[in-house]
Amino acid sequence: MGEKWVLMKTAQTPTNIAVIKYWGKRDETLILPVNDSISVTLDPAHLCTTTTVAVSPAFQQDRMWLNGKEISLSGGRYQNCLREIRKRAREVEDKERGIKIEKKDWAKLHLHIASYNNFPTAAGLASSAAGFACLVFALAKLMNVSEDESQLSAIARQGSGSACRSLFGGFVKWIMGKEDDGSDSLAVQLVDEKHWEDLFIIIAVVSSRQKETSSTSGMRESVETSSLLQHRAKEVVPKRTIQMEEAIQNRDFASFAKLACADSNQFHAVCLDTLPPIFYMNDTSHRIISYVEKCNRSEGTPQVAYTFDAGPNAVLIARDRKAAAQLIQRLLFYFPPKSDTDLDSYLLGDKTILKDAGLEGLKDVEALSPPPENGSAQKYPGDVSYFICTRPGKGPILLSNDKLALLDPETGLPK
Ligand code: DP6
Repeated sequence: MGEKWVLMKTAQTPTNIAVIKYWGKRDETLILPVNDSISVTLDPAHLCTTTTVAVSPAFQQDRMWLNGKEISLSGGRYQNCLREIRKRAREVEDKERGIKIEKKDWAKLHLHIASYNNFPTAAGLASSAAGFACLVFALAKLMNVSEDESQLSAIARQGSGSACRSLFGGFVKWIMGKEDDGSDSLAVQLVDEKHWEDLFIIIAVVSSRQKETSSTSGMRESVETSSLLQHRAKEVVPKRTIQMEEAIQNRDFASFAKLACADSNQFHAVCLDTLPPIFYMNDTSHRIISYVEKCNRSEGTPQVAYTFDAGPNAVLIARDRKAAAQLIQRLLFYFPPKSDTDLDSYLLGDKTILKDAGLEGLKDVEALSPPPENGSAQKYPGDVSYFICTRPGKGPILLSNDKLALLDPETGLPK
């Protein structure tokens, strides 16, 4: 076996947004939650992580680069993921190149990892979920691991809880499990991305100057101090999860929206019930909630659901294309771009919705009239940084095109 070779694999993994939230751990190291959660996977064309993993006898140590910058792998979460996946590595042979790695060799061989998000990491859009899911998925392919996606999800979970839900497309449930060793705390797919194709998702990336409390420390403080969290985990989420699964199976948007909004609001109520209280939403987030509530009420039946994670960004799920077009009209009326921003860089992702809304340029946005259901016509330019329009999407995939690899095939260093 020559000592020069580099063997690598590249994968792409989506991010996900919870509609029944995970908030609180019963085991901090294994990352075991206090309740089940349910998420929708977002289209990787608009929000995903790409990761290349490489192995070579020439590598001196495990190394990782995130968005081009080298980062440390010494943290417990990385170490746990690497250890668990190495344990499951099997023999790998590339006959053409005369490379053979025996099962026992993996313990001695070092890895290079390069990862890249196609969306701004700083925007607070669950980059760790896609990141850890992609790391585990790509390593499983490189190491010829035979475990299925659910079993891999239990490894990704040890990198970041929400990451376990990014191993599938469509709607996904993270089953909290009962075992102390975490072996039954894993993700399963409820339905794939084709089951409910009508849905549109618009994310408002809300401008914020404040550095938020991380999810990890926020939920630790909630577990220690919030009695509402205990009530939520024991009494509310178990029933709500069953109802949410039914709503998804039946494509019952009215129930889906009611449950998703209630769950987001309860998660933020738990944050307020924490000592000291945690504020993730800001005035813009609250404004968006009240616009959506008013609009849903005036339509008679819900057209849009909202959900907010550990930050001020709104994730808005519209029942169909028509509702999404109407929503973007309203959002752009209240939150127009600043005068120096063009519409093209203000709405990212699937721009086809703009045409449906009759919005071809900034002039059309300026000409929008105030939504009938709302008395106030006050506008807030600059309060939203940009919008992303997307859909429910597919799960992780392996990229076979070598040009998309983030590491050089000769040196195993970032390109
Ligand atoms: C509000 O998965 O980021 O987004 O497990 O500590 O890494 P760790 O936390 P993380 O928490 C996500 C919390 C949430 C809700 C959710 O995604 O379910």
